Amino acid sequence: MSDNNKGTPKREQWSGRLGFVIATAGSAVGLGNVMKFPWMTGKYGGAAFLFVYIIVMLVVGVGMLMCDFLIGRHGKANAVASYKKLLGNNHFAWMGYLGIFCALLALSYYAVFGGWMLYYMVNSFGTLAHIDPSAVGDFFGGFVSSVPGPLIGTAVFMILTVVIVCGGVKDGIERASKFMMPALLLIMVILVVRALTLPGAMKGVEFYLKPDFSLINFSVVAAAVGQVFFSLNVGTTGMVNYGSYLSDEEDIPKSTAFIAFADFAIAFLAGLLVFPSAFSFGIDPGAGPSLLFITMPSLFAQLSFGGIFCFLFFVLLLFASLTSSVSILEIFVPYVTETFPTKFTRKKASVLGGIICFILAIPVSFSFGIWGDVRILGRDIFTLYDDFICKIGFPLIAMCTAIIVGWIWGKKNALDAISNHGKLKRRMNDVWFFLVKFICPVLLMIVVLTGFGIIK
Ligand code: ALA
Repeated sequence: MSDNNKGTPKREQWSGRLGFVIATAGSAVGLGNVMKFPWMTGKYGGAAFLFVYIIVMLVVGVGMLMCDFLIGRHGKANAVASYKKLLGNNHFAWMGYLGIFCALLALSYYAVFGGWMLYYMVNSFGTLAHIDPSAVGDFFGGFVSSVPGPLIGTAVFMILTVVIVCGGVKDGIERASKFMMPALLLIMVILVVRALTLPGAMKGVEFYLKPDFSLINFSVVAAAVGQVFFSLNVGTTGMVNYGSYLSDEEDIPKSTAFIAFADFAIAFLAGLLVFPSAFSFGIDPGAGPSLLFITMPSLFAQLSFGGIFCFLFFVLLLFASLTSSVSILEIFVPYVTETFPTKFTRKKASVLGGIICFILAIPVSFSFGIWGDVRILGRDIFTLYDDFICKIGFPLIAMCTAIIVGWIWGKKNALDAISNHGKLKRRMNDVWFFLVKFICPVLLMIVVLTGFGIIK
């Protein structure tokens, strides 16, 4: 990043297209792709979910991601200030606040999963290297239901996130993303090849790739929208922040297409890794958050040097997750530093965000153990957080974003912005605007109503 804004306020910019695309893809790719995507796919009908996911990604995800980048680039400030600048009033500032709240909630449970990952990483050459597949469930369950271990893991993950954010956007994000992402891709490809050659793997492939369309309903669509947004960071306002560091020359549609493709490719590979393995080892594909953690050790046990593969896989996943967690904390930090410039330095704001997330993470961690029976609104604590974020918060923010861009900012301004003032005219720009103005608000309204349980 370079600081090339001579006016006030001073704001950094990405060092170039590659820096932006890799850092943004790094922020998108993480546990959401490798852990959450297979678990959601397994829970919502396998290939039927994948099918809906692809449609949602193309019709809503990519278009809404572009809206976020455009709003950020136009505002050149944190999300709340960017909405204000776009509209000339503060009526939609609540979206920025809701986005920040959702981001902190998301980061809190993300950190819990990050802690699980750390535990697997440190046990790669020990217990996990020799574990019998039938014992993996107990190994996982024993750890996540205990109190100190997962909390320590969560704290370590949060500290790592805060340290990277304190280092500044360029140093923290760009450097790590540039070599960790391709390495993760490579190791996943190797593991997929092994998974596909396991006995009984083809049943998993069928579950993952042969859709039963009768399974599709509003809940599946709502789950797919929530997952696409979680994965692309749409609806958190985080991508508005990332867009605020963009130069006016950036080809937003082109970069967005690449980011969405990279994000989808990693998620798709994760499915191709998890389902053949799960079916081969007799693991329930609907196992939920545990799916990745109980499936992978059994696969590693089938490989020569399984301990090394296990370690590398979780180290790379850790880095991919850190580039995501950093981007989530980045939603909070510029808001605090730009709103209270005399009180909060970047460092102080990062530490404050880290502490808030850790406190919010404690009930989530306990919901997998000692508070496993606690129900609020009929949900365990983790599901309460997740449903609020993915089924209400993100879709609501995205719906309002679509209304702002489509109906308030309007066609002339939006097309002018997406084409860099007419320099990048494309027919797809009109298609994008049509989807944003007419399709996204309706679809996202249905998702929000589903989230509230009004539509089933
Ligand atoms: N988008 C981030 C992920 O998918 C949060 O992991």
